[in-house]
Amino acid sequence: MKLFLENQPIKMKGHRQMKKTLLTAVSVLVLSSPLAITAQASEGGGHPLPDVDLTFKGPFGTYDKASLQRGLLVYRQVCANCHSLKRVAFRNLSALGYNEDQIKAISSEYTVQDGPNDDGEMFDREGRPSDRFPSPFANDKAAMAANGGALPPDLSLITKARSGGADYVFGVLTGYAKAPADVTILDGQFYNTHMTGNVIKMPPPLSAGAVDYEDGSPKSVEQYAKDVSTFLAWAAEPEMEQRKQMGFKVIIFLLAFAGLMYGVKRQIWSKVH
Ligand code: HEC
Repeated sequence: MKLFLENQPIKMKGHRQMKKTLLTAVSVLVLSSPLAITAQASEGGGHPLPDVDLTFKGPFGTYDKASLQRGLLVYRQVCANCHSLKRVAFRNLSALGYNEDQIKAISSEYTVQDGPNDDGEMFDREGRPSDRFPSPFANDKAAMAANGGALPPDLSLITKARSGGADYVFGVLTGYAKAPADVTILDGQFYNTHMTGNVIKMPPPLSAGAVDYEDGSPKSVEQYAKDVSTFLAWAAEPEMEQRKQMGFKVIIFLLAFAGLMYGVKRQIWSKVH
């Protein structure tokens, strides 16, 4: 079989066909952009996750600073008793709207281990803005010993590490319920609608009124869970707002570029009939 590629007439695509191709290319670009990636609901504990109304969802969503500050308070007063937040430094809290003095004041409330000194010994000192949140336990074994054998995971990346992200954290925090008759709950375990296997060793951490909010927000379990989930989403992805802005700029550029290319194509092909 012989092929005479050079001699075959080249099929010209009609204008309409080209337009269609261009449109398809643009929509593929738009749809596959980072803007289109949204949190997926999942069913870790067999129950569908709540789609919590959080300000940072969607392509234009941003973190609500007041909620972030309240979430920090909930983390510091409640979660920090068991969970570390190893990747967050005090100075990162400037993103929550705190100034240098406020950050100094927060960090100085912590004691961190430093060293070794000239004698080769580790020593404790007051926290500084450049320090990270100190862990509540000396090591994982100590953390497990204090929590009935379960390790409280570091919360720095928890909203990235679990499908459902902030919705999942919210789901676990508000998912405590009475166990159905056919589920056996042992001592030190709790039934939770969203934890995998529906059994968790974390005692219900939140109760209404436990954290004092000064801005008049409701001191309810739901509000605490919402704020701390927002705070943990920020901890895991502090650059989210910049990422969305950049994605938006890229799409505008691509649209303008596609328009320009379309004009160029029309110009070049205008003599072909
Ligand atoms: C008394 C200690 C304690 C406190 C306080 C506490 N936790 Fe936990 N948490 C645990 C332990 C232990 C586990 C592991 C449970 C397990 O594996 O069964 C856990 C698990 C979790 C999980 C599930 C992790 C996973 O594997 O999917 C999340 C999310 C979580 N905690 C968030 C929080 C938040 C947010 C707070 C503060 C509002 C908090 N915890 C307060 C001890 C605690």
